Amino acid sequence: MRRLLRNRMIFMAYFVVSSGSILWLASTCGPGCMSDEIGEDSMLDYYKHELERTRANMRQTETKLKTITQTLNKQYAKAASTVNEILGIESPRVPTIFAVTPTYTRPVQKAELVRLSQTFLNIINFHWIVVEDSERKTQLVSKFLENSGLVYTHLNVKTTDEYKLKENEASWRKPRGVDQRNLAIDWILENVPQDEEGIVYFADDDNTYSLQIFEEMRTTQRVSVWPVGLVGALRFERPILNDAGKVTSWYTMWAPDRPFGMDMAGFAVSLKLFRQQPHARFDITSMRGYVESSLLVQLGIRKEDLEPLAEMCTKVLVWHTRTEKPKWKQEDKLIALGKPSDPRIEV
Ligand code: UGA
Ligand code: MN
Repeated sequence: MRRLLRNRMIFMAYFVVSSGSILWLASTCGPGCMSDEIGEDSMLDYYKHELERTRANMRQTETKLKTITQTLNKQYAKAASTVNEILGIESPRVPTIFAVTPTYTRPVQKAELVRLSQTFLNIINFHWIVVEDSERKTQLVSKFLENSGLVYTHLNVKTTDEYKLKENEASWRKPRGVDQRNLAIDWILENVPQDEEGIVYFADDDNTYSLQIFEEMRTTQRVSVWPVGLVGALRFERPILNDAGKVTSWYTMWAPDRPFGMDMAGFAVSLKLFRQQPHARFDITSMRGYVESSLLVQLGIRKEDLEPLAEMCTKVLVWHTRTEKPKWKQEDKLIALGKPSDPRIEV
């Protein structure tokens, strides 16, 4: 009797442990390891469901990535193209922007060039043409460009004495940067392959540029135009449009009857148009404020042909900021004492 009871106890314990383990197994492992019990059909359902869930996750991730690149594209096209590269998505081909910057030696020159370069680094298909107003290329600009990380061409031409501003001569007396821009046009026409599309923009070194204006100007067919802030002794100057969206006149106080009452920073020209009018250049003999018009007239463009950008010329995306001339009085005193500040430190 006792033995029988013990055997029954052993049997009961065995039963509890083994059925418990089966239940535990069933609850923890997937359908694969219990295929016999659950059946092929439900296993298939399980994997179908899992696959669908993974696909939905991937679609969500793809949408997120797309939103990221689109957002980046608006502000940082260069970063967006890197993301596209990583993802294996081909970036759309866009015409190269050739930005032409005349520049000359003065205390603020490096600061101006750094500011510009750090805007330009964010732009894709961008080629900077820096033209020094000097007999020789300077060390400062050469080294600066080498380390800039930008695609660039470094040129130089000294403005002829007749047109060179004298020390302390009011700046409006002579046109500035004219020979330099013209040399850049020569270079572009001679060196850019015929099948390469491009946009030429004259980006003086003392202005402030938003990235958006570069993205907008890429659509230029012939000549595109937009407002410029802080210019002409006004809050802004801009082309005035009619109801059909064509330019009819200029919002400017300075010689509003000029053929094109615009600052240099307010327009871009397609390379195609330059190729069609290969002799069009800025005229150094033009009257005060007529330098821009001198080129646009030779390009054979009419007001009504201009392509308004920046939301029909209602947004300011570039500013004629002009950097203040720094005070130098103490430096001059030290120079007079023969103790100038350390010339090895580049400013
Ligand atoms: C205004 C316009 O914004 C210029 O585009 C136009 O060339 C000029 O007037 C003019 O009427 O000639 P503003 O600010 O008065 O410009 O001129 P700057 O910015 O001093 O000069 C224009 C460009 O030429 C700058 O990139 C500057 O670095 C360069 N520059 C100036 C020289 O290369 N050499 C000089 O002796 C002076
Ligand atoms: Mn300027």
